[in-house]
Amino acid sequence: MNAMTVTATDRPIEPETDHSPCPVLTAALDQAIRDRPCVELTRALCQTLAGLIREQRLLLPAEVFQACPDHYARRLIHHCPELGYTVIAMTWGPGQGTPVHDHSGLWCVEGVVAGSLEVIQYELMETRGDRFRFEQRQTLAAGSGSAGSLIPPHEYHTIRNVSDEDICVSLHVYGGQMERCCVFQPLADGWYLRQDKPLSLD
Ligand SMILES: [Fe+2]
Repeated sequence: MNAMTVTATDRPIEPETDHSPCPVLTAALDQAIRDRPCVELTRALCQTLAGLIREQRLLLPAEVFQACPDHYARRLIHHCPELGYTVIAMTWGPGQGTPVHDHSGLWCVEGVVAGSLEVIQYELMETRGDRFRFEQRQTLAAGSGSAGSLIPPHEYHTIRNVSDEDICVSLHVYGGQMERCCVFQPLADGWYLRQDKPLSLD
């Protein structure tokens, strides 16, 4: 996630009671995505997503606000067959997070709906087979109403809810269907071992 460019006050989001797509969200995304190059598109999506959060217009399913006890939850909100994008809601219990991972070469726009996330960016320096060397870059505190983007090849980061008691909900718009990714387990001296990881939905 790049620098958070838009912020809003931390206000509660009214959840819906089912898992149906949010028409306001999908109409806004359709308009923002259509016929735009990647950099312009993700910039527009950041503004769109942050604005919808700030204006409390995201009517997300109630279960999105329920954490899973042993892993961060991934719930499909919407997939657009025509434009190809996918919207996933992620729910982060206290302390839950990810290892360093990639995004399978897909662009991604991520917005924080509730709570706060720590996002640490990594830059790929060199590879030797399945061993990758990264250098840690910027650490961001992404609060409610923040939105940022990842554009390959700059697609490596960790995400963690560092709160001891609050859950965090984030919304992720991908430029395709991300059904697997690579995660990187630390070895030594900045080197990591690449592992393929299938991604499931809750
Ligand atoms: Fe990510």
